[in-house]
Amino acid sequence: MGVLEGKVAAVTGAGRGIGREIALMFAQEGAQVVVNDLGGDTDGSGRGGIAEEVANEIVAHGGKAVPHGEDIATVAGGESLLQSAVDHFGGLDILVNNAGILRDRTLFNMEEEDWDAVIRVHLKGHYCCSRPFARFIREHNRTHCRIINFSSVSGLFGNFGQSNYGAAKAGIAGFSRVLALELAKYGCTVNTISPAALTRMTIPLRERRGETVSDQDLIDSGPQHIAPVVTWLASEAAGHVTSQIIHVAHGLVGIMQQPAIIKSFQHEQAWSLEELDEYMPKLLQAKKDHDREVAERGKPEPIKEGWSSQN
Ligand SMILES: NC(=O)c1ccc[n+]([C@@H]2O[C@H](COP(=O)([O-])OP(=O)(O)OC[C@H]3O[C@@H](n4cnc5c(N)ncnc54)[C@H](O)[C@@H]3O)[C@@H](O)[C@H]2O)c1
Repeated sequence: MGVLEGKVAAVTGAGRGIGREIALMFAQEGAQVVVNDLGGDTDGSGRGGIAEEVANEIVAHGGKAVPHGEDIATVAGGESLLQSAVDHFGGLDILVNNAGILRDRTLFNMEEEDWDAVIRVHLKGHYCCSRPFARFIREHNRTHCRIINFSSVSGLFGNFGQSNYGAAKAGIAGFSRVLALELAKYGCTVNTISPAALTRMTIPLRERRGETVSDQDLIDSGPQHIAPVVTWLASEAAGHVTSQIIHVAHGLVGIMQQPAIIKSFQHEQAWSLEELDEYMPKLLQAKKDHDREVAERGKPEPIKEGWSSQN
């Protein structure tokens, strides 16, 4: 019996890439899946019927799935995603907010429409799909649900030329922390994935650097590496895991630190500029020490004898 037997899941942007792999694995593990995808280009333009292809593939392998081709960055699209799960499978237990687009430019060249399009699909998309699901959970007191959101190192660490995408992805991490608090009383967990995988979103970035992507690279670093971690987070085994950011990339799984005060000083009055001259360097030094320690501790630990990250 699969770990998601009896569960109903909706995966946005599941027509290709990471979302497709999640939908396929969810179905393999027994979930009934609403496969959402608008089928557009990487920059968000156009449309295509790719959600049907993935749903058909699942059904051909004996699973249960329906396609959903609406834009998840609209309130109507998010509501119809939930409605599709209710109409076809009687409810919803797992929502994966994975759909995404890119419009990379430095801020010098970032037009309003590039900013709006990326913020809309990523950040507003998370709102549009999560709100109807949250209301459904509350209205039906549906316990043990899961929301799994998609952030990125672009927003968590910062990446040149992606102020729109980075802002949306950092926003998603903040959104997830709040949602985890708001849904805790229903036993619903909310976690965030920071993935790295070779997909149509990232392959061109490599190619622009003059690197080629081989079939072996796709085996080593393809989107199939993300699905098991998302499936585990969606399963009963992860009922106690919430408000976490999990980094997943080609064989690596790691947990990210969350914003926290590393060191602080306090006195009764407002700080004078002279005092700040004295104390700010102490804070910055504490931060440096902390970063060094975290960088050391975060290095991937080989779990197979004779294997190392240099292999
Ligand atoms: N691939 C990576 O290394 C990487 C790194 C960090 C974050 N991510 C994030 O992971 C997620 C999946 O990325 P991917 O690499 O599989 O990309 P992808 O382009 O292969 O897949 C994204 C899918 O989302 C769909 N989509 C876009 N806008 C939509 C909308 N409004 N409504 C419905 N569907 C829509 C697209 O049609 C596409 O099929 C994204 O949120 C992305 O930002 C990916």
